[in-house]
Amino acid sequence: MPRTIRVVEALVGPIRWGVAATGRIARAFANAFGAVGVDDASIVAVGSRSRAAADAFAADHGIARAHASYAELAADPDVDVVYVASLQPSHMHDAIMMLEAGKHVLVEKPFTLSAATADRVFAAARANDRFAMEAMWMRFNPAPVEAVRRVHNGEIGLVERMEIDFTISVADDPEHRLRSLEKGGGSLLDLGIYPLTLAWWIAGPPTSWTATGTVAGGVDTTCVIDAEWDGITARLSCGLDEDGPLSAVIQGRDGVLELHAPFHAATSFAIDDGPIQRLAPASLHHQVHEVHRCLRAGARESPRNPWATTRAILSVCDDVLAQLGVTYPT
Ligand SMILES: NC(=O)c1ccc[n+]([C@@H]2O[C@H](COP(=O)([O-])OP(=O)(O)OC[C@H]3O[C@@H](n4cnc5c(N)ncnc54)[C@H](OP(=O)(O)O)[C@@H]3O)[C@@H](O)[C@H]2O)c1
Repeated sequence: MPRTIRVVEALVGPIRWGVAATGRIARAFANAFGAVGVDDASIVAVGSRSRAAADAFAADHGIARAHASYAELAADPDVDVVYVASLQPSHMHDAIMMLEAGKHVLVEKPFTLSAATADRVFAAARANDRFAMEAMWMRFNPAPVEAVRRVHNGEIGLVERMEIDFTISVADDPEHRLRSLEKGGGSLLDLGIYPLTLAWWIAGPPTSWTATGTVAGGVDTTCVIDAEWDGITARLSCGLDEDGPLSAVIQGRDGVLELHAPFHAATSFAIDDGPIQRLAPASLHHQVHEVHRCLRAGARESPRNPWATTRAILSVCDDVLAQLGVTYPT
């Protein structure tokens, strides 16, 4: 019987990154790259809506080519993979533009504003046979990875309860991107996506959830998701108005694991009163190693942060936002 073998293109040689946007996280990404000298790879180009910002970013980070638009970056033939670090309302458009130009993409969280728009990016990745991944860096940071491994290893017994918080104090300024509906602000998609992702990572998809919160200026300024699985309950909280505990407490039948604040970028955790487990610092470069591993293997998605999970988490977000009455402009 004839067999069809799909040969996927694996990247060989140095991996050439482009960065789309020059904001805070784009700078942190370039700094992380520079600090550790990631694999056989470098950032070779940056694109910005502004020529001046692109030039300044390139000069600060020793990047060879500065493009005065994301479209120019997409057209750069000497870029293999683009880190999309623009604001969430343009992630879908920017990622699709890069994929259609033949680039692989690592897209900042939240991947897009909804499950439906995430589907459009995955469809473009499929159609163009390119890699795509949400830059959910927590899933690659050493302390969260090890803590989840311990939980899955049964070290606290069957999980019964999770309390995970990402509440921070954000300037009371309607122009702040987290408080602006047009900029895709709100606590859930920017911060709450971390507690939701960690709970999902530990327990899989919840069977039910209800959300409460406050909405101001059109965005959710606080959000609490009470979620349930078979035998597990969780309280997942986020907000913009005060500094919260920022910890993740996972209670099992035989013990409690606490991932210390800030849990998504934790460097340590403890089980009960046992010794504090210290791991390598969180950094944006850990996820980059995973992108490289996938590109070298010709993979189009990462098994450690697969498309289906990104999509399913966004579909819970869709429902939570509907419960809270938040609607983003299309
Ligand atoms: N992984 C993490 O820990 C982490 C942390 C913070 C943020 N993020 C995510 O990263 C993304 C960027 O956040 P950020 O903190 O870097 O934001 P930021 O400092 O405000 O920068 C956003 C950049 O997006 C570009 N942009 C595109 N369209 C824009 C618009 N209409 N208005 C303003 N800027 C626009 C701009 O770059 P140009 O002017 O160069 O085009 C701007 O510098 C968001 O999706 C956010 O959720 C992730």
